[in-house]
Amino acid sequence: MAILDGLSREFLGVVEDAAVACARTMGQGDRKNSDRVAVEAMRKSMDTLPMRGTVVIGEGERDEAPMLFIGEQVGRAHDEDPEVDIAVDPLEGTNLCALGTPNAIAVLAAANKGGLLHAPDCYMEKIIVGPAAKGRVHLDATVKENLEAIAKSLGRSVKDLVIIVLDRERHQQLIDDIRTAGARIKLIGDGDLSAGISAAVRRTNVHAVMGTGGAPEGVLAAAALRCLNGHMQGRLVPARDDQDEERFRKMGITDLKRIYTERDLAPGPDILFAATGVTDGFLTGVRFFGHGCRTYSLLMHSTENLIRFVDSVKLDGDTSAVVEF
Ligand code: FBP
Repeated sequence: MAILDGLSREFLGVVEDAAVACARTMGQGDRKNSDRVAVEAMRKSMDTLPMRGTVVIGEGERDEAPMLFIGEQVGRAHDEDPEVDIAVDPLEGTNLCALGTPNAIAVLAAANKGGLLHAPDCYMEKIIVGPAAKGRVHLDATVKENLEAIAKSLGRSVKDLVIIVLDRERHQQLIDDIRTAGARIKLIGDGDLSAGISAAVRRTNVHAVMGTGGAPEGVLAAAALRCLNGHMQGRLVPARDDQDEERFRKMGITDLKRIYTERDLAPGPDILFAATGVTDGFLTGVRFFGHGCRTYSLLMHSTENLIRFVDSVKLDGDTSAVVEF
């Protein structure tokens, strides 16, 4: 039996708790507080799980993050509990939550020990596509070549493609190249993880994600893509060359030009991915209705080949509670 089989429901509860907590701060304009609330809720919930967990992708190094820092031990940690590596982003899209704009999610991925790359907190150059374009794109190919390959894999023209790009100055050349090639672009303010999931799923009207975003989000996207048969390629981008290169080396990363696929970033045989919508988007955001709340989540497990869309109603214990649909 895969070690995560018995834990999927518990992990679902962890992302639901984080989403409900930070959804209360939606639109307050305080991204730090939204993040803090999500982190605290996720940490508290995670500690009840029957596992000996280690955070491998988290809120940063121990000295800058009070909780869910890289290397932190989580779970109730009884001797008989399985060892699990965990990548977390308690609130992916802190600005999105603070502003109440689409696609903020609470998310985690879990794997057997060593099943998720211990990636440094830096940028990653990425291309993310769905199953059809697997093996047909390359990070070092030109934008035009990649768009033509994606279009061909989907049996359509380049002008019919929609590519998501983070709206950042560093992407001006990429945006110009996509425009010149003739594809349509959706510029997003934040949240290239949910964008990557959309690219791997048909009928979302998203056909690829291109550009540079966070490396931790890259590992989480890879975990999702392992469950969705999608494909990504990513290359770490050191920010402050000397310091970052030294940091990377300490983490065992010596080849800075290496292109990682979803299998390199999330190599484990047993990968679990769970996300709950905070604000409306590819997952509906949290609804509060007086006597409780309703959450919408995505729960995927690679070894089960199972993708669940989970719609949960949690009552607050009041005996007169009325459930709303
Ligand atoms: P946060 O959840 O930490 O706010 O990250 C949001 C995000 O937009 C990610 O989705 C993306 O990978 C990264 O930030 C991009 O970083 P930057 O804002 O520095 O360009």
